[in-house]
Amino acid sequence: MPAPFAFRPAADLHPFGDPRPLPEAEAARLLELDRRVLWKPFTQMRDYVGEEQVVIVEGRGNWLLDHRGRPLLDGVSSLWVNVHGHRVPEVDAAVAAQLGRLAHSTLLGPSHPAAIELAAELVARAPSPRLSRVFYSDSGSTAVEIAVKMAFQYWKQQPRESDRARDVFVTLDNAYHGDTLGSVSVGGISLFHGLYAPLLFRAERATSPSCYRCPLGRSLPGCGIACADDVERAFAAHPGRVAALVVEPLVQGAAGILVYPDEFLARAARIARDHGALLIVDEVATGFGRTGTMWACEQAGVEPDLLCAAKGIGAGYLPLAATLATEAIYDAFLGAHEDFRTFFHGHSFTGNPLACAAGLASLRLFDEGRVLERARALGGRLGERLAPFRDHPRVGDVRRRGVMVGIELVRDRGTKEPYPPAAKVGQRVVARAREAGVLARPLGPVLVLNPPLSLTDDEADLLCGVLYEAMDAVTLELDGELGG
Ligand SMILES: Cc1ncc(COP(=O)(O)O)c(C=O)c1O
Repeated sequence: MPAPFAFRPAADLHPFGDPRPLPEAEAARLLELDRRVLWKPFTQMRDYVGEEQVVIVEGRGNWLLDHRGRPLLDGVSSLWVNVHGHRVPEVDAAVAAQLGRLAHSTLLGPSHPAAIELAAELVARAPSPRLSRVFYSDSGSTAVEIAVKMAFQYWKQQPRESDRARDVFVTLDNAYHGDTLGSVSVGGISLFHGLYAPLLFRAERATSPSCYRCPLGRSLPGCGIACADDVERAFAAHPGRVAALVVEPLVQGAAGILVYPDEFLARAARIARDHGALLIVDEVATGFGRTGTMWACEQAGVEPDLLCAAKGIGAGYLPLAATLATEAIYDAFLGAHEDFRTFFHGHSFTGNPLACAAGLASLRLFDEGRVLERARALGGRLGERLAPFRDHPRVGDVRRRGVMVGIELVRDRGTKEPYPPAAKVGQRVVARAREAGVLARPLGPVLVLNPPLSLTDDEADLLCGVLYEAMDAVTLELDGELGG
């Protein structure tokens, strides 16, 4: 069935002019090597070698070009990182200028201008004036790992013995905070995390505010956000022992873009405060405009003690992350050299100058380019184009906050019966959409869109239109295969 709105095809919109494929021999060599030597993240490699391989050779604007000379609209911002598009002249120039001066120098010891300037700009834009210190790292996982270790050590270095006993982390079911062992410990997606349980520290998990499949069997608005009561329960289970609450603000992203009410976050933050614990807000996915404001926690009026930023921080160009901390936390690490209150943590590429230069250029674009206004308008446009999905018989739920979108496919809307994993419904829809020039990524049966904030209205229409048609065709095929 064609999408219930008109949209211009990829061929009309892409910026590559007359795109050419890679020379055949070069493409064949790369594809063979790709199959033979790469082990790809979050990928069942047995599936991968049987599927169409795609090698991206160029990026421009909101588009990528593959080895076949096929333009692909980057509907997931290259895993939610790209903010202003690919090869943005201002960011390219900033990185090139930095490359002309210094590619890398460690932050252990000396500083460099880009790290200093970016830290000042991040502090100036933080969602709370209390966040005054910036500790760099290079991925979302490390940003969270650092926040967790900082919180733990903060309490260990308190003068009162009772405070030094705080060593429990409260987290949420369905949480995703990254793949290093500390961030996995505070995660709550059993598919990703369950196997590693013996390697992890124990965290107290509270109910996920997951409205479509409410674990409490309740529904909005009558539920009174009853799931927040479970956060209270988690704290009460460890009186005086909780070091911090760790939370993804407004959207549990990797669990399937589970959008939840502001009030849940506000209440959870209040509970953490009332129990004297720290609040760690993981803005790795939601930061830099994705939910319509610079930081998602602003919308719930929540001020964290530690804030984790990554993904979009370097415009989606280079690996960079930052953990922002309050002065009170920073102060707890000060002392005589021989007291060893130092935060013994750092990575070789912490605060890399090229990445910081990209980050500075990106923030300037936020100032000059009305990026947040565009992000809000884009969210509205996506909302309009997603409306027809809600009426489709195989769509159970359409969730959106800003430009973060999750479309959950189900076999039966009434019972919310999921597709069997072997049907690979999400993967099949995404593969079909790619044939029509759109790159998306599934999270199981959830189709995810999370485009660059620079996406145009025409591109938003193409993204939603192609995805609709791919979803309709694949679910129809599956009705036949599964007997629907
Ligand atoms: C909320 C959140 N935290 C942390 C991470 C981990 O970030 P990275 O993949 O850069 O390690 C992610 C990644 O998707 C995320 O969504």
